[in-house]
Amino acid sequence: MRMRAAVLEEFGEPLAVQEVELAEPRAGEVLVRLHACGVCHTDLYTASGADPSGYAPTVLGHEGAGVVEAVGPDVASLAPGDHVVTLFSPQCGECVHCLDPRTNLCLAIREEQNKGHLPDGTTRISRDGEEIRSFMGCSTFAEYTVMPEIALAKVSPEAPFEHACLFACGLSTGLGAAINTAAVQPGSTCAVFGAGMVGLGAVAGCRLQGAERIICVDLSPQRLELARGQGATDLLEGGEGAVERILEMTGGFGADYTFEATGNVAVMREAVEAARMGWGLCTVAGVAGRGETLDVVPRLLITGRRIAGSSFGGVKGRDQVPVLVDRYLAGEIDLDPFVTHRIGLDEVNRGFELMEAQDGIRSVIEFA
Ligand SMILES: NC(=O)c1ccc[n+]([C@@H]2O[C@H](COP(=O)([O-])OP(=O)(O)OC[C@H]3O[C@@H](n4cnc5c(N)ncnc54)[C@H](O)[C@@H]3O)[C@@H](O)[C@H]2O)c1
Ligand SMILES: [Zn+2]
Ligand SMILES: [Zn+2]
Repeated sequence: MRMRAAVLEEFGEPLAVQEVELAEPRAGEVLVRLHACGVCHTDLYTASGADPSGYAPTVLGHEGAGVVEAVGPDVASLAPGDHVVTLFSPQCGECVHCLDPRTNLCLAIREEQNKGHLPDGTTRISRDGEEIRSFMGCSTFAEYTVMPEIALAKVSPEAPFEHACLFACGLSTGLGAAINTAAVQPGSTCAVFGAGMVGLGAVAGCRLQGAERIICVDLSPQRLELARGQGATDLLEGGEGAVERILEMTGGFGADYTFEATGNVAVMREAVEAARMGWGLCTVAGVAGRGETLDVVPRLLITGRRIAGSSFGGVKGRDQVPVLVDRYLAGEIDLDPFVTHRIGLDEVNRGFELMEAQDGIRSVIEFA
């Protein structure tokens, strides 16, 4: 079939929205009609050429929500009409990691996905016979996508698509960092560094876990106000002195749980230093630049602080994204403030500009 898609032709150039060809789903694959897709830093990171493992041409986008249009052979868990959220982090349910509650890092399709292929080593998107690679196994800056069944979470049809798509990446990452990775205990004190999509999700996750005090740190007063709306009890301007302030606010000890959601290794260090002596757990969600390292004084660890990393919030996507969506539908999370711009597919490059200008939290592409 023919469809419109935003193609990354060359790094550093605007995406080119155009007609491309999409092949039928093969065994274990599903054709999804997209209704909404968030524009994320990871898309821009690849588009800019900064990601050394990036490739082109490719159709970017990975924060999609839509409806199953057709299924290929051997697909048992999804049927036409199902509402789905795309998962760059799949859940096959069978590999050694899927079977272990300690991790969500499914091993089933990683290698081919990293190369821009579907699990069988090929791609469904093409243009005049030339292969166009799949991005993060999703390629959702397009009217349709063909994805592996194991990379689609079936969610309630009651969730509006523009909100459902937020669960495909940053929101679930933040929520899961607090709920799964840190497993925040009720009554505890938390400190969240960064109030973008991930940090705001972590603030909401800490609140849902029953944290008593949630300190949010950011450079932007507007973003800190959004954090208050998600449950932050204390707002703090980031930068020099932030750690000292948190220590002062916690009787000199530091927070029971800290979260880093900036991608800046200096802030990761602050998040470790702001964790409480004895049992403070620092959860790192930000993605650092290639080659950057985290500098930590080992004494901080000897004296009881711990550091954990979190990919997609430790969320096992097919099982847990539907549950998170249900919690949102039950009124536990307010997502309206996160969707700050609604744009058409043709305006995808404007979505990048808004993100670079830190204008709002998410631009969501809506498909007619
Ligand atoms: N682990 C994962 O699976 C996963 C998934 C999605 C995104 N991420 C990563 O998480 C990070 C955050 O993503 P996002 O979409 O929320 O980004 P964002 O850019 O929207 O938010 C980052 C925030 O950090 C703030 N900040 C910058 N310097 C600061 C400082 N010194 N102190 C306090 N705050 C500071 C910024 O003002 C901004 O509000 C990125 O590195 C992203 O790549 C990770
Ligand atoms: Zn993303
Ligand atoms: Zn698996």
